[in-house]
Amino acid sequence: MKNTYMNYLDWPTIPNDIIPSVQSIIDKPMRDRGKYNNIFFHPKSINDNVSNWIMNNICPILASEIKMIQYQVIYPNLPIHIDSGSRRVGLNYLLQSGGKNAETKIYNVDREEIISSTNINPFIWHYIITEMPHTVSNIEDVRVGISIVLTKKGEDIFFEQINYSPRE
Ligand SMILES: [Fe+2]
Repeated sequence: MKNTYMNYLDWPTIPNDIIPSVQSIIDKPMRDRGKYNNIFFHPKSINDNVSNWIMNNICPILASEIKMIQYQVIYPNLPIHIDSGSRRVGLNYLLQSGGKNAETKIYNVDREEIISSTNINPFIWHYIITEMPHTVSNIEDVRVGISIVLTKKGEDIFFEQINYSPRE
């Protein structure tokens, strides 16, 4: 998976013993995001110990520019979308991929052409450029992961690290 739009990150693995069970994450209530709540993508509040571990173990420059960390539970048939709240990049860590055929796909702006398609492995930090249209297809059960939302400044710092020019 060597491309501009998604790639693995050389960040430390989260110790398994601090991560709650996937089922307990699925069972958590969805964060209330008003009009953004939908049946495909359920954001859930992160546990403090997991959040603290991440803030203490990732690149300190980015850690100080975290807007939010959340669990995300994704169900089949997630539509192609650009992230709400103008998030331009997601820093993610899967706990359960949703099946061996689950495929993260990024499209060109017109959504006519797939420009990147990857079967992302769990338990490895990775990023996805979420200002481009994207989806996850072929989810068989449920996909569960941890996701960091950076501040705009944090996103700009990250884009410089990966040598990516944002759309605006
Ligand atoms: Fe997204």
